[in-house]
Amino acid sequence: MCGIFAYLNYLTPKTRREVLEYLVTGLKRLEYRGYDSAGVAVDSDDGKGITLVKQTGKVKILEDAIKEFMTGHDIDTPISTHCGISHTRWATHGVPSDLNSHPQRSDEENSFVVVHNGIITNYKDVKKFLEKRGYRFESETDTEIIAKLVHHLYLQHPNYSFRELVEQVIQQMEGAFALAFKSKHFPGECVATRRGSPLLVGIKTKTRLATDHIPILYGKDQLFILEHRPHGAGREVPMIPRTESTSEFQPLEDKEVEYFFASDASAVIEHTNRVIYLEDDDVAAVKDGALSIHRLKKSLDDKHAREIITLKMEIQEIMKGSYEYFMQKEIFEQPESVINTMRGRVNLVNNTVTLGGIKEYIPEIKRCRRLMLIGCGTSYHSAVATRQLLEELTELPVMVELASDFLDRNTPIFRDDVCFFISQSGETADTLMALRYCKQRGALIVGITNTVGSSICRESHCGVHINAGPEIGVASTKAYTSQFISLVMFGLVMSEDRISLQTRRQEILEGLKNLDSQIKEVLKLDLQVLEIAKDLFQQKSLLIMGRGYNFATCMEGALKVKELTYMHCEGIMAGELKHGPLALVDDMMPIVMIVMRDCVYNKTINAIQQVKARGGQPIVICEENDKETMQFAHKVLEVPKTVDCLQGVLTVIPMQLLSYHIAVLRGCNVDCPRNLAKSVTVE
Ligand code: M6R
Repeated sequence: MCGIFAYLNYLTPKTRREVLEYLVTGLKRLEYRGYDSAGVAVDSDDGKGITLVKQTGKVKILEDAIKEFMTGHDIDTPISTHCGISHTRWATHGVPSDLNSHPQRSDEENSFVVVHNGIITNYKDVKKFLEKRGYRFESETDTEIIAKLVHHLYLQHPNYSFRELVEQVIQQMEGAFALAFKSKHFPGECVATRRGSPLLVGIKTKTRLATDHIPILYGKDQLFILEHRPHGAGREVPMIPRTESTSEFQPLEDKEVEYFFASDASAVIEHTNRVIYLEDDDVAAVKDGALSIHRLKKSLDDKHAREIITLKMEIQEIMKGSYEYFMQKEIFEQPESVINTMRGRVNLVNNTVTLGGIKEYIPEIKRCRRLMLIGCGTSYHSAVATRQLLEELTELPVMVELASDFLDRNTPIFRDDVCFFISQSGETADTLMALRYCKQRGALIVGITNTVGSSICRESHCGVHINAGPEIGVASTKAYTSQFISLVMFGLVMSEDRISLQTRRQEILEGLKNLDSQIKEVLKLDLQVLEIAKDLFQQKSLLIMGRGYNFATCMEGALKVKELTYMHCEGIMAGELKHGPLALVDDMMPIVMIVMRDCVYNKTINAIQQVKARGGQPIVICEENDKETMQFAHKVLEVPKTVDCLQGVLTVIPMQLLSYHIAVLRGCNVDCPRNLAKSVTVE
């Protein structure tokens, strides 16, 4: 989804060339989120106005346009304080176009400009309100109303601070947003805020910060300028004067400081590892080099300060290195990422598993009525993959739910439910909404996320970080295997004191121990998979069949093929073949079958025979040296054998490789598939 990056240097002289380079690099780091156009706003040559450069298409096109702009402009004079904002847009309201790109502006003078991630649901009302006051709109975006509304308020209340104006604006907004503002009336200032979409502030100083906490400053109830009506344009009601003038908090010992506002940490990590994750309705303002964080109202569970945390991420983690694509790098990182997921948690000497983030809650979880595993896409598949094992190890009913469907159904939730929210990004809107729904109903909320500081992480009662490292490719790969292992570890924790399950636990622990070297073995299939991809890449359709522990691999494999190659692909539960899908099978239909020597082996062999009887020529993923199974195969991919419940970690990797190679052969954009975004922050 959209990406925000803003940069403010205070008393740290930078030329506009440098600022523009920072902005473009920041946007490049956010490219993986998915976007279709991009733009920047910096001070104009005389420092009195704002220059906008916006382009449809890739950041590279924007970069070229910026280079063109640089000729004939004074961009090499150092400026001691400057604020620049930038954006990658993923179209929601209006097609990708230069005009619809952000920053959006208040007027032809570019008095106020804003970048926005999210959707404003009441923008039509606000638009009518502004149109009645003479504003003419140039874009089709919902965002433009924000720029115009802040301008309108400024004209009405020229004595308001920038931050106060933004506070007024967000009170009128319904929907989800992260916003960063710049104004020619407030040079050297930046105001940013969020509700429902992620935003963080990076801080870079020469010396240590005086504090690790930025206290929150509260306002009193603020004014309303619009009365919203379902179908009306809104009526203006008298504005209430400002109620509080808070003194700005100066958190820094030294005066020279640089601030970075970004949708995620990958955009700031090369500058600083000191960040604050903003909470919903925080308004962060930088004025005269001082950062202050404000909230309009105090609520009961508010903390008094926002902590400056130190990120552990390294810049290399977000670079491609010698790989051609991030997805390829992330597939090949899995031997290490699974180890990182288990590091400090799985003790193979005394056969214990410790999950620090949920330890205190285990007694409560053991008393629960049922476990619910909720997620979207790949994260949902990790729940499907581990459900059977969790039922076995916890002896509790386990429900797996797609977050969107779960919400559509208004699923009954009780206080003694334990709900797991699985999300790589920790920001997926549907999953987050489902989390809030369950939290309101009193369930215990457990987050399984890969992104420290994400919304799901912060809003959960407890949780497990999967520690897979940044995942940049839109297609989720290493996050899946790490989610899988995190859930397996949870099952092991829950069964620690069950005598009857000790042998089972022992074999799973053994399996975990060998997983990294077995993944390395599977990755050696790469060239073989490439050859299979060459046979398949011109096909229209692909079926992937399996059952039991490996059904999740079929669904996950099919999702990978669909999203990366745009080829039709279905994951089919082999037990369902006779109930319909068998009609698709003939000697032309490409089929992959996963046939492992587990408790459903005979049934899966039955399915493969049915496929063969209809002329099908299955590509079989089976265990190493399983000659008996291989006789049914047109082509074979052999993977090492592990314990049944972990086999899915190994069988999914050939599918990741297959989708990757087909995508490359078809000329698709591997890391940013069309129409998709890494982090789906809108419902
Ligand atoms: O960040 P999340 O894990 O919550 O994302 C959920 C899905 O959007 C995501 O897994 C998506 O299905 C992937 N692009 C699949 O590769």
